[in-house]
Amino acid sequence: MSHTMVSEENAPLRKFLRPLIKLLRTAYIQGTTVVKLMPSERAIQLYYKFRHKSYDLQWSMDPGYRKGLRKLVELAIEENDRVLDVGCGTGTVTVMAAAKAREVVGIDLSPEMIELAREKAVKKGAANTTLIRSSVEGYRPEQPFDKVISSFMIPHVKPAFRPSIYSCMYAFLKPGGMVGLFGSRGEVCDVYEKRHIVEYNLGSAGFEDIEIFDIYDIYRIALARKPE
Ligand SMILES: C[S@@+](CC[C@H](N)C(=O)[O-])C[C@H]1O[C@@H](n2cnc3c(N)ncnc32)[C@H](O)[C@@H]1O
Repeated sequence: MSHTMVSEENAPLRKFLRPLIKLLRTAYIQGTTVVKLMPSERAIQLYYKFRHKSYDLQWSMDPGYRKGLRKLVELAIEENDRVLDVGCGTGTVTVMAAAKAREVVGIDLSPEMIELAREKAVKKGAANTTLIRSSVEGYRPEQPFDKVISSFMIPHVKPAFRPSIYSCMYAFLKPGGMVGLFGSRGEVCDVYEKRHIVEYNLGSAGFEDIEIFDIYDIYRIALARKPE
């Protein structure tokens, strides 16, 4: 297992503003504990029915989020990959991956989020993208993928059920395939997983070669490989 810290560029003004940026990011991430109040798939769908229109606007306030997603694509995706984006939401990382990969499939529980992802894929000319309304648990791909990525979906799942989500991601991959997860850190906010829990859940699902990248002050990428 490896652990790398990735720092943000330190232009003089940014260096000066760094403590404030960290404070604002931490406050925003603490607000995402609202997901604890959603006990079922129906409740998550209802939440995004009301939230979908403001979702991208809220995240656009932190350029670090998009930079973190770009880092995920840089680290996890190669040109010839078929990629699955699990809990793709409005498709922000789906279309970033589609600009590099051969083909990308995005799945999400929420019909409104999938609709926004479809609009984004059309706007970005991502013709190699397919978007499907499905839960992770109910999804049955016709063929396994080279890569599975997921951003900020796992916190929606209660900790006791997370091992089954990791197992689904494992099952969606070809032997030798790679999973790439993006989110925040349990050390910053308790709906996310602490580093040892991410490692434990990935390892228990069967993944090997686990690499953790702590991105800036609150984000985290975890990469791991399904054995050949
Ligand atoms: C916080 S959003 C993240 C969206 C996107 N990946 C991003 O980074 O902006 C979480 C998404 O996961 C979806 N989701 C939650 N539980 C899910 C499940 N069990 N199966 C599929 N999607 C799920 C929600 O509908 C929502 O769109």
